[in-house]
Amino acid sequence: MIITVTINPAIDKTAEIGAIHPRALNRLTKVEKDVGGKGINVSKAIAALGGSSVACGFLAGSTGRLIEELLREKGITPDFIRVSGETRTNLKLVEPGGYLTEINEQGPTVTEGELEALRNKLVSCASPETVFVLAGSRCPGVPEDIYRQLILAVKEKGSRVFLDADGPLFAKALEACPDVVKPNSFELAQYFGLEGEPSREEIVALGRRLVEKGVKLVCVSMGGEGACFFTEEGAWYAPSLPVEVRSTVGAGDTMAAALCYGLDQGMALEDCLRLALAASAGAVTTAGTKPPSRMLVDTLMEQVTLLPMA
Ligand SMILES: Nc1ncnc2c1ncn2[C@@H]1O[C@H](COP(=O)(O)OP(=O)(O)OP(=O)(O)O)[C@@H](O)[C@H]1O
Ligand SMILES: [Mg+2]
Repeated sequence: MIITVTINPAIDKTAEIGAIHPRALNRLTKVEKDVGGKGINVSKAIAALGGSSVACGFLAGSTGRLIEELLREKGITPDFIRVSGETRTNLKLVEPGGYLTEINEQGPTVTEGELEALRNKLVSCASPETVFVLAGSRCPGVPEDIYRQLILAVKEKGSRVFLDADGPLFAKALEACPDVVKPNSFELAQYFGLEGEPSREEIVALGRRLVEKGVKLVCVSMGGEGACFFTEEGAWYAPSLPVEVRSTVGAGDTMAAALCYGLDQGMALEDCLRLALAASAGAVTTAGTKPPSRMLVDTLMEQVTLLPMA
């Protein structure tokens, strides 16, 4: 069973706008709403691949109830801790030419008791058959070692943990040694204190260092440059696929989802890596964080080249 954890879910409200006029009345056209937050994006992509998952985390208010409803419609089981306040609605304004302005809320404040309730819920679901996906940022009240705490708690019961986070959340979580991590090249460089865009050689060296730390599978996504994968047995580079780019937002979440789904299905490692690359390429062809169809992913999978690295 796959359980995704989203600490700070959101309704992403995407609207088209002629041009943004500051300090004046702006009228929106074509408003669309979808559930968001990284763990939830992973659940959505798993569902599109044909898999199932339970979505956990914190939800509040009427926005929280709407999220539960939208998740059920997508075949995802919501199992959240209810907190007081209101789950955030993030406004994404798209101007002609695709220029994006984002206005994000902070999200509700979570208390120590509510954090405890989430920890208890996850531990009660944890077993060697459960895979946890911890993805995304936190909301007020949540400490920066939250993922470290959760990883230690569920690993004790034999679960595997998949981590997609950045900054201090990622750094602290690594102390608890998650099984799979998916930083992008910028997040990887940031963790090791490197300034700017790392070179391919640097990415390879740093990816290997994460394996030496005990992470079983390291996937470093490099946007339009493709991805590198590292395990104790080997390392691979996969160039990205030449697809028509519509929106790269959430491509990494889809990649994490495909890896997790493939591993949970017991697929061979190299097939999981191909699936991850193909699914992420499919994700950039869709609007916003909408996941690609399974049919598209299957077609793209035949085009993936996986090059072993010395
Ligand atoms: N322009 C592109 N063309 C083809 N494939 C792409 C492109 N951008 C991203 N991808 C695919 O998606 C994968 C993940 O992308 P990226 O490295 O941007 O993830 P990310 O920064 O974690 O994104 P997010 O956190 O928004 O989901 C890449 O490894 C690649 O396979
Ligand atoms: Mg990412």
